[in-house]
Amino acid sequence: MMITDFPPELERLIVQRTLGEEAARQFEQGLLPNRVLAPLARAVAELSARFTTERNLLPAKYTDSKAARAAYLLYFLPANFPKTALLLDELAAHPDSLLQKEHIRILDLGSGVGTATVSALNYLARKTQVRSIEAVAVDSSAEALAECRSLATEFAQLLEDESPNLSFKLATIVKSLKVDSLDGINGSFDIIIASNLLNELFSGQEGSLRDRARFIKSVAQKFLAADGSILIIEPSLRSTTRELQMVRDLVVAESELNIYSPCLFDDLCPMLREGTERDWCHSAYPWHRPQTIKQIDQMIGNRKESLKFAYMIFRRDGKQLRDAVSNLPGSLWRAVGDMQTEKGRSFIYLCGEGSYRRHTLLKRDRTPENRAFEDIERGDIASISGYIEKEKETRIGRETTVTKAKE
Ligand SMILES: C[S@@+](CC[C@H](N)C(=O)[O-])C[C@H]1O[C@@H](n2cnc3c(N)ncnc32)[C@H](O)[C@@H]1O
Repeated sequence: MMITDFPPELERLIVQRTLGEEAARQFEQGLLPNRVLAPLARAVAELSARFTTERNLLPAKYTDSKAARAAYLLYFLPANFPKTALLLDELAAHPDSLLQKEHIRILDLGSGVGTATVSALNYLARKTQVRSIEAVAVDSSAEALAECRSLATEFAQLLEDESPNLSFKLATIVKSLKVDSLDGINGSFDIIIASNLLNELFSGQEGSLRDRARFIKSVAQKFLAADGSILIIEPSLRSTTRELQMVRDLVVAESELNIYSPCLFDDLCPMLREGTERDWCHSAYPWHRPQTIKQIDQMIGNRKESLKFAYMIFRRDGKQLRDAVSNLPGSLWRAVGDMQTEKGRSFIYLCGEGSYRRHTLLKRDRTPENRAFEDIERGDIASISGYIEKEKETRIGRETTVTKAKE
C-alpha cells in the first residue's frame, strides 16, 4: 500500500454515513450506481468551485449544511486525508524517530469533519508504537464537529481489531479561532495540525498575513510541546500557496520556530525573493484515487489525478528534515518544480541555502556521476557538488556529482 492510499474500510464507513447501509453494501460489491452519487456530485462541484475560482463566495460555516457536509466527507476528506499522512511520514524520516512515543496529543485546528484527526489516528496506529492518542478538534461549526466525533470514534473502533492495546480519546471544542481567542484549549500537544484552515483565517481582512503569522506564533507559544510539530497544509492554488510562503517568512523572522520541512534551510524564502509572481512552492504526489472520487470526478469533469498541496512544518527544537540526509556530500537542494526535458537539455528549479535557481544539464555533459540529475522529481532532495554558476542558471557539468536522497 502507498502512504497516500485511503483505507477502504474508512471509505465504506463514509459511504454508509452519507448514503446509507444499502449504498455501503453496493460499494462493497464494486461500483456505486451513478444515480446514488449524483445528488452529492452536485454539492461537490459547488463546493469545489467555492474552494478555487469562487473563493469570495464561500459562505462562513459552509459545513453547517447537510449536503455540503456529506460532499466534504465523501470527496474532500479522502483527498485531504493523505496529506497529513505524508507530513507525518516526513517527521518519521528524521533520525531521532520523532513519532516514536507511547502517548501522543494532537490538536486539530479547523478540523471540520475530522480529516486530519482521522488521518493521524490511522498513521500513528499503523506505523508507530503509540499506545494512547488524545486528540482535541476545534472548529467553529458544531455540526462538523459532531460528524468528526462520530467518524473518528467509529474508525477507532475498526482499528481496535488491529491494535487492541491502542486507546483513543477525542474532545471537541466549538470555537471561532482568532489570534487572541485560544482559551478553552488546555495542555501541550505533540502534533498541532491546521489543515486547509489558514487561508480561511482573517481572509479578505487588512493585515491578514501578519495576523496568520501571529496566530501560528501564539498557538506555538501556548500549546506546542518542546519537541512538538506544527503541521500546516494549504490548497495548492497560486494565491494560497504564495500567502503561506509569506506567512512562513514572517513566522521565521519573528519567532523561535524553525522550519522542519519542506524547506531545507531557514533563511527567507528564496523563491519569493528570486522568483517571479508566477512561481509557487507546492507538492504533488501520485495517488490511487478512491473509487467514489473517481466516479464523482467523471460526473463533474474534475481531474484529481495527483495530490497537490502546499505545506509547512514548524518546530522549536531546531530539528529539520535535512538532518536525515546530513551524510550526503555537496550542497543540498530540494526540487520545487518538475523536470522539463527539451531537445539537448533537461532542467528543473531547485531550492537550496539562500538560493532558488534553474539547474540545467546539457545532454552532451551527461556522465555517470551526474546521471541522477535527470531522475529528480518535485519534492526530491538531492546533493550536488562541483556545479557551475552561470548568470541566469546553475549548470550541471561533466565535473558535477549528483546524489539523490533515498525516499
Ligand atoms: C476547508 S475546511 C478544512 C477541514 C479539514 N481540516 C480538512 O483539511 O479537510 C476548513 C475548516 O475550518 C473551519 N474554520 C474556518 N475558519 C475558522 C475559524 N475562524 N475558527 C474555527 N474554525 C474555522 C471551517 O468551519 C472548516 O470546517
